[in-house]
Amino acid sequence: MREIAQLTRPQAVYWCDGSAAEYERLCQELVEAGTIERLSDARRPNSYLARSDPDDVGRVEDRTFICSARQNDAGPTNNWRDPAQMRDRIAALFGGSMEGRTMYVVPFSMGPLGSDKSYIGVQLTDSAYVAASMRIMTRMGQPALNVLAESGSFVPCVHSVGMPLMDGVQDVPWPCNAENKYIVHFPETREIWSYGSGYGGNALLGKKCLALRIASVMARDEGWLAEHMLILKLTSPQGAVKYFAAAFPSACGKTNLAMLVPTLPGWKVETIGDDIAWMKFGADGRLYAINPEAGFFGVAPGTSEQTNPHAMASIQRDTLFTNCALSDDGDVWWEGMTKHAPSHLIDWRGDEWTPESDSPAAHPNARFTVSAAQCPVIAPEWEDPAGVPIDAFLFGGRRATVAPLVREAFDWQHGVFLAATMSSEKTAAAAGTVGELRFDPFAMLPFCGYNMADYFAHWLKIGRRKGARLPKIFYVNWFRKDAEGEFLWPGYGENSRVLEWVFRRCDNDAEARETPIGLIPGPMDLNLSGLELAPRALHELFEVDHAAVRAELPQIRDYLDQLGERLPAEFRTQLARIERRLSGE
Ligand code: OXD
Ligand code: MN
Repeated sequence: MREIAQLTRPQAVYWCDGSAAEYERLCQELVEAGTIERLSDARRPNSYLARSDPDDVGRVEDRTFICSARQNDAGPTNNWRDPAQMRDRIAALFGGSMEGRTMYVVPFSMGPLGSDKSYIGVQLTDSAYVAASMRIMTRMGQPALNVLAESGSFVPCVHSVGMPLMDGVQDVPWPCNAENKYIVHFPETREIWSYGSGYGGNALLGKKCLALRIASVMARDEGWLAEHMLILKLTSPQGAVKYFAAAFPSACGKTNLAMLVPTLPGWKVETIGDDIAWMKFGADGRLYAINPEAGFFGVAPGTSEQTNPHAMASIQRDTLFTNCALSDDGDVWWEGMTKHAPSHLIDWRGDEWTPESDSPAAHPNARFTVSAAQCPVIAPEWEDPAGVPIDAFLFGGRRATVAPLVREAFDWQHGVFLAATMSSEKTAAAAGTVGELRFDPFAMLPFCGYNMADYFAHWLKIGRRKGARLPKIFYVNWFRKDAEGEFLWPGYGENSRVLEWVFRRCDNDAEARETPIGLIPGPMDLNLSGLELAPRALHELFEVDHAAVRAELPQIRDYLDQLGERLPAEFRTQLARIERRLSGE
């Protein structure tokens, strides 16, 4: 703290204790600064709305850097910078960057306090909005400091909005340095430096920076997994319980799946986490997962009583909203919340808005920040320091074509191959052509803190661990479309039918048929009772078009080639196997 205060020269230093009174005080200061406003207590008790600078509305991948000593350790999917040069840059950027501001000292625990799976971070930040958000998203303050006093080790995180208040500089409601953002990671020394942005993953450094980019490196070194995965608990009508962890690219409905309301009678989904899973082996050889976060930083647009009633219930009160629209009765609104938009709103920029306006009222990346404890279906064991044993991994992209609704991998290596080649179509394919694919391996493309090929090798190594009782691996796709461009599968609560099949497969209690790309439920194996599907939809959802699968292989091969010479040989084996299966050998 002293070192960073000397560098950044704040006017004052404040140590966060994490108390409710402190949160109230921070919010009050933010109201006075014009950063947030209090919503109507009748509509949304103890809740606030922040409006960011329009140039600071999301993660900035091109300004996110991995500064490993060797470029090849960051790999071709990351922005690498020479660590020595970056240190010079950092010294220049942060020199005096907190002038005229308070530096908040934010100790936090990622994971339940004192769990052997948790890690402590300390963020120094000149943003009160960030300090308040960290109280929701992590276990923050004195209790984390107490753990640190015992263990002595922490991940240092320095954050500045990059707008010092030198003599005469007037503060603004959302200070940032839009032209000059740097989200910097030093994987070898496990450090994070973030400059110029006050938004989301750029600024709440426990989330993407620590719990994924830095933690993925720690996990590689220590033999565990730090993943961009939700964790859900599924209970059968007979009361049997399984835990699934699932990875999907950003904005593919992870929060919705984590809080799913099953349409299948008697089944129950409860939430452990909606974005990140840390998993370590137990003495019994199983992988035990914790959610390192304490809150949800969820995308608001599209969230409604229909798509995610449990999220809507979670954010009834005590919620910090960002870049949503404000209604005339002092509540928030966003596209998709209700069927019809209110006749008048203040939009996320603070301008008058009516349904005739030609831009959305809420920013598409508008967020709610809320404590996970407020979720009505949070599982009672969500803070168990031991974690929960994972039975299955689910991976999935947004595929309009080719990928069936669900398939099971033949084995661990095949599952790793499927996850590594996870993809979505960039654009709709013209009839008879192959869509251009955007690959997002393990949904980790923006979040893996080291060479992606080494990351695949790490997953393969996990599979070779002696005595491991590994989860089964599945690949799901809720987004397949018919020839008219209509979704074939209703999604949301109906996804419980797929979860049920996965559950039964884990018990060897459901049939599957072998195809060249994996094990697929036969028409009688998926519980479809009570579901009306368009004629032929079921057939199309499970169709494995050999020609289409084959036509995609060159793209997959090119993509893997780009990952460089460290790509494990296993991937060539997997490709050869698919080709062999396609040609019926
Ligand atoms: C997120 C993301 O915000 O994945 O969780 O982008
Ligand atoms: Mn995410």
